[in-house]
Amino acid sequence: MYHHIKKLMFTVRVGQPDPRFGNMLLEQFGGAHGELAAAMQYSIQGLNCENMACKDLLMDIGTEELSHLEIIGTLARMHLKPMKKDAAAAEHDPLVAIAGGGGVTLCNSMGNAWTADYLKVTGELDVDLRSNIAAEARAKIVYERLINFCDDPGTKEALQFLMTREITHMRAFMQALDSLGKPPLSIGLIPPTPGIVDQYYNDSTGEGDDGETDATGPWNDDPAITIVESPALAGFQVEAATPKRGRTNSKAEPEASTSRSRGKAEPAAKAASSHPAKADKSSRG
Ligand SMILES: [Fe+2]
Repeated sequence: MYHHIKKLMFTVRVGQPDPRFGNMLLEQFGGAHGELAAAMQYSIQGLNCENMACKDLLMDIGTEELSHLEIIGTLARMHLKPMKKDAAAAEHDPLVAIAGGGGVTLCNSMGNAWTADYLKVTGELDVDLRSNIAAEARAKIVYERLINFCDDPGTKEALQFLMTREITHMRAFMQALDSLGKPPLSIGLIPPTPGIVDQYYNDSTGEGDDGETDATGPWNDDPAITIVESPALAGFQVEAATPKRGRTNSKAEPEASTSRSRGKAEPAAKAASSHPAKADKSSRG
């Protein structure tokens, strides 16, 4: 159950209202990475969650996000309020001034209505936790940008608090994901197809206008990885993806396949131009 207490989680003080900035703040009120989206995402995930410890975490953070929604809404309202009577202020956002009376509605900074399409709820706990880690990272960077565009010390204080909590939540979701003890590439129950899972398709080739060429990184410079050069141009085509009976077992899962040699032939695919990683590494970076 929910209970409202007439007190903000963080005391909001605004020196000089800035309607232009108030409009930016709406991004964290009714926007894709905002507090309502976070509150609903975690709370709805919590309703679906059968792991009681993680359910508790999801409901704790989902509820805290509602308190954040209250803070950011109060803050935005304080900055937007001059639009109620001041024509010059109203010009910053006629929609907020005329339709909203200088108050907050569940819209983002562009006036688009909040939508449940923002939410990532899959009913698979580890997948949801990954979405939440990413959601907190997105919210953090939006708060950081708001802080950078803000002149009012009191407003900055509140935004600093909200931004900090995103990192706290991000850490908690990372720890919850860790606590499940799943190998990092283990999603769901059906294992990926051996061979295909370790192919790297070099689909962007040539030299760009700024001199950029193929790059090398851990994603393709690994003995376990087979690089397939320009698959579309080379007529590369995967003929079958379902592993033959007996081939799919825990030993074939990607995290256990690091002993495979680079460039080994792929049984499940016809690699017309599959060859070991380029010998000349200096040309790839
Ligand atoms: Fe938040």
